[in-house]
Amino acid sequence: MANYGHFDDAHREYVITRPDTPLPWLNYFGQDEFFGMATQTAGGYTFWKDAKLRRLTRYRYNNNPMDNDGRFLYVKQGKSVWNPGWKPTRTKLDAFECRHGLGYSRITGKKDGIEVEQLMFVPPGENLEVWKISVRNKTKKTQKLSLFSYVEFCSFEALNDMTNYQRTYSIGEVEIEGSAIYHKTEYRERRNHYTLFGCTRKIDGYDTSRDAFVGVHHGLHDPKAVMTGKCTNSRAYGWNPVGAQQINLTLKPGQEETFAIVLAYVEQGDLPKFDSPMVMNKTKGREILAKYSDLKVVEAAFDAVKARWESLLSIYQAPKVPNEHLQRMVNTWNQVQCMATFNLSRSASGYETGIGRGMGYRDSNQDILGFVHLLPARARQRILDIASTQLSDGTCFHQYQPLTKKGNADIGGGFNDDPLWLILSTCAYIRETGDLTILNEPCGYADKPGSKDTLLHHIETSIQYTLNNRGPHALPLIGHADWNDCLNLNCHSKEPNESFQTAGDIAGSKAESVMIAGLFLYATRDLVKLYNFMGQAQDASRIQAHYDDMLKTVEEQAWDGAWYTRAFDAQSNPVGSKSCEEGKIYIESQAWCVLGGAGQNNGRAKKALQAVDKYLYTPEHGCALQYPPYSTYHSELGEVSSYPPGYKENAGVFSHNNTWIHIGWTMFGEGEKALEYYLSICPSAKKDHDKYRSEPYVYAQMTASQFSPTPGEGKNSWLTGTGAWSFVVASQSILGVQPDYTGLRIDPCIPKKWKGFSVSRKFRGVTYSIEVTNPKSKSKGVKSLVVDGQKIAGNIIPLSTDGRTAVKVEVTLGA
Ligand code: BGC
Ligand code: NOJ
Repeated sequence: MANYGHFDDAHREYVITRPDTPLPWLNYFGQDEFFGMATQTAGGYTFWKDAKLRRLTRYRYNNNPMDNDGRFLYVKQGKSVWNPGWKPTRTKLDAFECRHGLGYSRITGKKDGIEVEQLMFVPPGENLEVWKISVRNKTKKTQKLSLFSYVEFCSFEALNDMTNYQRTYSIGEVEIEGSAIYHKTEYRERRNHYTLFGCTRKIDGYDTSRDAFVGVHHGLHDPKAVMTGKCTNSRAYGWNPVGAQQINLTLKPGQEETFAIVLAYVEQGDLPKFDSPMVMNKTKGREILAKYSDLKVVEAAFDAVKARWESLLSIYQAPKVPNEHLQRMVNTWNQVQCMATFNLSRSASGYETGIGRGMGYRDSNQDILGFVHLLPARARQRILDIASTQLSDGTCFHQYQPLTKKGNADIGGGFNDDPLWLILSTCAYIRETGDLTILNEPCGYADKPGSKDTLLHHIETSIQYTLNNRGPHALPLIGHADWNDCLNLNCHSKEPNESFQTAGDIAGSKAESVMIAGLFLYATRDLVKLYNFMGQAQDASRIQAHYDDMLKTVEEQAWDGAWYTRAFDAQSNPVGSKSCEEGKIYIESQAWCVLGGAGQNNGRAKKALQAVDKYLYTPEHGCALQYPPYSTYHSELGEVSSYPPGYKENAGVFSHNNTWIHIGWTMFGEGEKALEYYLSICPSAKKDHDKYRSEPYVYAQMTASQFSPTPGEGKNSWLTGTGAWSFVVASQSILGVQPDYTGLRIDPCIPKKWKGFSVSRKFRGVTYSIEVTNPKSKSKGVKSLVVDGQKIAGNIIPLSTDGRTAVKVEVTLGA
């Protein structure tokens, strides 16, 4: 088994030690409005706020060789040409290392005694990324070399940029001033912003035309200018503008040269647009470059990136967990992934092109569950933004563009689960913060411009929507699909040229979703607790009645004998039932019925989990989404049956829904099972990286299942709901530290052999140092809770009222 790297937990880094990983292994920079992505070979791109509408650099997906656009440095020394990140030249290096850290990546390559280090990050609050570059002569002789930088600019609107060459090849414009290249395509007309690509050191040449730098018949692996050792000082007029700078260095033995390159998105604001006709006012660009010409500023900006992460992570740290994988995921990488999914939803990753999908309604609501503890104020704003894309009848725009915050139907609509997720995110936010004022915030409905209906109004509308839209079994209508986008029971598509997601549905269908019923149970139970906390007992009992009613319906209509049926199709035939030839059992209805509290008193919940264990689970890969996979296409089921067996929704291991089962096991005190299942999809625990292929530090959306020809192959990493839900599993369900309305609830569910663990949790202004001991080798049940020396009844640490900001908590399991 090849070894591609290892975790450096002390520095919260993943260290990649060979560049040819099975797939590009990606990292993200930026947390505010400016984002960058880079792989271990410096592939990737950069954008401001919106990867579709404000993309600064280009990236060609689905390409071969893969991952061949990025932030490249080339070294030319004598005849030898190489990249510190190995690509695009792929010249063999004497040493290579890429450290993916939190918000930064540091690539170091060495050849013939020359070492080049490229540290990339986005300083907090800035709309730019910095590359700190160090070139070191590790030999005993003076060495001469040329270093070349390279990025390819995108003309901001990424879809047009990659499809409309008849226009884009004629619009490219740049300016060059000293060591700075200004990309200002469309600036003369409606844009009031530009991209700066500037070097803080004197340069010895530049290119801005790709044809000049790379060569029309060359590639990035042998760019003409680098091969000949000389930039041509080209100015791009149309075609493909790039930024390339040449720096000639003569380094004495042991000498090091350090400088920075800045890639910035600059909004002109009220400044005059032009200094003279065709000459852009560059005041802001010059200021940025001047600022980062001071290496102390660069250092301080990098320190600020690290300090910010340390401060965020200090909100939840579990330093003494008996399992190293859970420990590093919950303390570091899982939270990092939660930041990325919160910021980018499903828009831009190695698999999401940034032009396909924006901020998902159901996705972003779920992402909040793993993010809200980090920056509750941002979660608050997000909840309101999402709610504003709901329509007054309760339906929702399925996604919105981050730049405009306007909902759209580009990837379809009519997903009847969408409205309910808003309740989960809102309740999680209030449990974290105690801030009930969010409920009175006016968000309005997308179809009622100027309306000021409150968030609570949206929540009631959402409940009402499910209640109003029920089918023949009194179960919720599925609409176009529910959480499982591919369960298109009303679409009946027979036309290969249409997308399952946007093809539209037959009118008046009766197809129903048991998963939505379970989600409704979960959401209404959450809401009952919220109303009780608000002192609105009548509202609580009103919602409780809906819960009771739906629970009865689920138990009467959806129990299939050994598990819960998944759905009823447009003809009211069961889906996910023993009576089906294929797709007999689905995971989502087991998960949500159990999580919603069904099957508690009649043994069904446990049976449903056992059925998952029997038919769907393998310890190597986790749980497949359903069983048996569909071997043929069923138009009455839709996209789910379109995938080859064992992939994606057709019985692939869809990590996201596995996490709900993990929570299910903890509800039953099954600590061993919960951890075993947790580890089955945990990227850090994957051993054979040639097989798994995806990053070992973040979750992938999907792993090819036992039913596929390539079991164990991870795909579509980073932007998946698995991020948030896994953090919920590890932090709240297994380690059991749960924010609640009236305090911090402690309810761990751990393997019996764990002797204990500790968690430090900042909650509502207080740092709780929690020590859990397990003297009787139990999995669940708090025997005693001692808070600052005082024994407390029950398992909720009450909110401190006396101004204490540090509280010691001793928990003994074994009730
Ligand atoms: C995928 C789903 C995804 C959907 C988005 C489908 O092709 O299988 O996982 O959520 O597209 O529109
Ligand atoms: C990915 C989508 O982002 C998510 O919304 C959906 O629930 C899953 N696919 C399952 O189809």
